Amino acid sequence: MYIAIMGYGVVGSGVAQVINKNHDSIVRKSTQSELEIKYILDIRDFPGDPNEKLFVKDFDVILNDPDIKIVVETMGGLHPAYEFVSACLKAGKHVVTSNKELVAEKGCELLGYAAQNNVNFLFEASVGGGIPIIRPISQCLAANEIDEFAGILNGTTNFILTRMINDNMPFEEALRLAQDNGYAERDPSADILGHDACRKVCILASLCFGKHVYPGQVHTEGITEITLEDVEYAKNWGGVIKLLGRAKRSEDGKQISAIVSPAFVDHHSQLAGVDDVFNAILVRGDAIGDVVFYGRGAGKLPTASAVVGDVIDCARHENKQKFFGWADSQDGYVSDYLDATTSLYVRANCNHPSETLSNAQKAFGEIKVLKRPNAPENEIAFVTPVATERELRTKLETVLGLEVITTIRVTDY
Ligand code: HSE
Repeated sequence: MYIAIMGYGVVGSGVAQVINKNHDSIVRKSTQSELEIKYILDIRDFPGDPNEKLFVKDFDVILNDPDIKIVVETMGGLHPAYEFVSACLKAGKHVVTSNKELVAEKGCELLGYAAQNNVNFLFEASVGGGIPIIRPISQCLAANEIDEFAGILNGTTNFILTRMINDNMPFEEALRLAQDNGYAERDPSADILGHDACRKVCILASLCFGKHVYPGQVHTEGITEITLEDVEYAKNWGGVIKLLGRAKRSEDGKQISAIVSPAFVDHHSQLAGVDDVFNAILVRGDAIGDVVFYGRGAGKLPTASAVVGDVIDCARHENKQKFFGWADSQDGYVSDYLDATTSLYVRANCNHPSETLSNAQKAFGEIKVLKRPNAPENEIAFVTPVATERELRTKLETVLGLEVITTIRVTDY
């Protein structure tokens, strides 16, 4: 069986490397007599590359070659990946992708093309890099109703927060270190603003709850406003700050809530000890309870590991379709984040701290007052009880009239 790789960047070259290195065992596990890369599509030249003879620049070479049964898309970005993948599926070729933007925006549509043409569209590498999470949710946990999930889904921001927490390093310095180590892109905005984690939440939520969640429907906040002062207060509260992507279904199952934001995570949580570039996803099912998937969420070979696993699955299921139960959704399926219940950490400036804290106590009920060394006299910090976010924010603004510096959601995973 012949395959083609579209995009010879970090992941695409990793895919070729893994297939060449583990060739014999991959072929055996694929149940085919042979599994061979026939073409690699890239607009760039790679002189001296061991796969030099395989490079093509014209997508139609792959599309029109009936020998090509599986196409690996590792180009990234929405265009032209969407057009190329659509065309391959419609031509009856299996497609494996690591492209989270593509799956988050077009997953439902592309799975539809795959179904119409009796081929597979697989995307294990699109969330959590090398961590098995797509297949566990859609197969191993299929007996469950998934109630919710929460994940550290972005390695770059987790590295930055870890440096802030463990080394007292300011955000800008930690970001520079992430860039120097090759974790963050030169333009790191998709990571630090939370867009990368948002795409992964969309994919997981679509799989867990059965209807497509689009990036525009998910309230997303990054980590650019987090300071070392907030890290200190989180420590005093008894936890750490993590960028979490979360989604939860409503009790009647008709709606879901989904959000990406920094969150206070208790020291005892399994997510609290996930440091550096590692990712972890906690899934809560009605039969299994909590299960946590942990590992390398990015990088050449970990991501290639997931892609090649999908390639082997396509080869094994050459004439059989995998079912994801992923339908399209209507407006209103994802609820307004302000209607979700949460507890909030609040840091604010005020002229009369003890009076303001006593008013906060009256407005919210029981609050937990937080302290940090060397805080200015006019700074207060506290954690509210649980209520809808709308109610909490209304009270902060209209009842207390506080000059709020930061709010961070507090979780109980
Ligand atoms: N930039 C992403 C991260 C890569 O840091 O996690 C994997 O999606």
